[in-house]
Amino acid sequence: MECIARITPDLIWVGGNDRRLNLFENIFPIPRGVSYNSYLLLDEKTVLVDTVDKAVAGVFFDNLTAALGSRPLDYIVVNHMEPDHAATLSEACGRYPDAQVMLTAKAAQMAAQFFGESLRERLHPVSEGEELVTGRHRLRFYTAPMVHWPEVMVTWDETDRVLFSADAFGTFGAVSGFLFADEVDFARDWLDDARRYYTNIVGKYGAPVQALLKKASALDIAFLCPLHGPVWRRDIAWFVEKYQRWSTYQPEEDGVLVAYASIYGHTENAAEVFAMALRDAGVKHVAMYDVSVTHPSYILSDAFRFGKLALLSATYNLGMFPAMETLLLDLKAHALQDRTVALVENGTWAPAAGKQMREVLSSMKNMRILEPVPTIRSSLAADTREKLIDLARQLAEA
Ligand code: FEO
Repeated sequence: MECIARITPDLIWVGGNDRRLNLFENIFPIPRGVSYNSYLLLDEKTVLVDTVDKAVAGVFFDNLTAALGSRPLDYIVVNHMEPDHAATLSEACGRYPDAQVMLTAKAAQMAAQFFGESLRERLHPVSEGEELVTGRHRLRFYTAPMVHWPEVMVTWDETDRVLFSADAFGTFGAVSGFLFADEVDFARDWLDDARRYYTNIVGKYGAPVQALLKKASALDIAFLCPLHGPVWRRDIAWFVEKYQRWSTYQPEEDGVLVAYASIYGHTENAAEVFAMALRDAGVKHVAMYDVSVTHPSYILSDAFRFGKLALLSATYNLGMFPAMETLLLDLKAHALQDRTVALVENGTWAPAAGKQMREVLSSMKNMRILEPVPTIRSSLAADTREKLIDLARQLAEA
């Protein structure tokens, strides 16, 4: 049975939710599921804006059939060719043989890579600013390369001031009945997932996101329709401000991320002492993670959130602990920059974690490493405890 939601008199959400998938992109845990949004515009012509992941194909085609009624589908707009949205494009084209597909030239090339030549006659590459008039509605296409793939565009419905923003302004989390962001407590219940989604999926591409925000700033947006998560019709500026910060790598709030790699608990003990010392030094917010326990996507998200990091690692195979290396390489891959970092290493006979952590951080942009880097020999001794407390004070005051 269909499950659809009306956004405006002419616009219907026809997407689907997946609460079974463990790992989005086969890498990111999504305990709250994810939604794949698709939108149907009913004008003199009918326009489907993006399709969905194959996991929700059943409900999606039920939704689309119900929302269209007896009308044909005239256009499919593909803002993003990634399979979490476009896996069902080929089937949609098969079901609606008259639908013309509007997409960027790059997306057309990708469509051929994913589906072969079968769709070629249906694909209509559009250029920056090109218009499609569907009756009352005037749609305009704006390219948004690298938000999150190179073929991405966004679609602006000038008539009802709706921006179909592709992955931008999306979030992890299935939509549970309440489609609009103002119907839920977004700051309390969704922001962490929105940040984790942004930082992990698009975080690397700050400059392209800035370019998109610049284009969007010229639009008077009434509805913001992303490909994942709730639709925005109020307080859009609040969410745009978050994107401004994240895409310029500015911390969102005061606080310290403490991430530690511990084998037998001694480095963990040092992290606990460090966190207490941060509190004593006046820090108001500490987020602490064991890198072997928490998926790096959560830790990366808090590394974007806070301006100060403390990384403590045991030495392993004459280097840093593997889970710490994974985290650091992830921070680097996502272009995290402009942070103040405290490092602590532990080693029983040949401590080397500090040197390796320093090497990775030094290859990143504007990472300020506090000196000196304390070395723990197996377990915390009175003198290293004092060094840790000094370092925590330095970080608090930085
Ligand atoms: Fe939701 Fe980049 O796909």
